[in-house]
Amino acid sequence: MNNMNRREFVQTAALAGAGACGLTGCATFTKIGDTPPIESAAYKVELPGKVTVALSKAPSLAVGKAAKIIDPALSDPLIIARVEQDKYVVASLRCTHRGVELEYQAEQKRFCCASLGHSRFALDGHKLGGPAPRPIQVYPASVADGILTIKLQA
Ligand code: FES
Repeated sequence: MNNMNRREFVQTAALAGAGACGLTGCATFTKIGDTPPIESAAYKVELPGKVTVALSKAPSLAVGKAAKIIDPALSDPLIIARVEQDKYVVASLRCTHRGVELEYQAEQKRFCCASLGHSRFALDGHKLGGPAPRPIQVYPASVADGILTIKLQA
């Protein structure tokens, strides 16, 4: 704070925070990130503990992209990341710190919390950094005949 008094510093920090949060609202407060919802016709909750996704109906899942499923039939909302042509990683959408949504960062191949805390998680769920106290849940997923099957229970 060389030439800046405390009040100027706080005002500058607040403006920087507002800028980081964007015009649509800060994820730290809304808990909502930028991951788009998957197309509603693309998925089904088949059984308790099983979700299927018809990949031909989910253009949001292009390589390097991710989509989320928030459905009242699911106790845990999901983020699905297409990390390679035929490789999908499915995890809990919520950060273990304060429940803000995660986003997929394709360049780093990791999940990152949309909050200002920015906890980061590897594709196997373990924490890479940030204030989150625990890893995120990662669910087994496999692809056959254009259908992604996610097992939420063992
Ligand atoms: S909610 Fe705080 S780092 Fe994710």
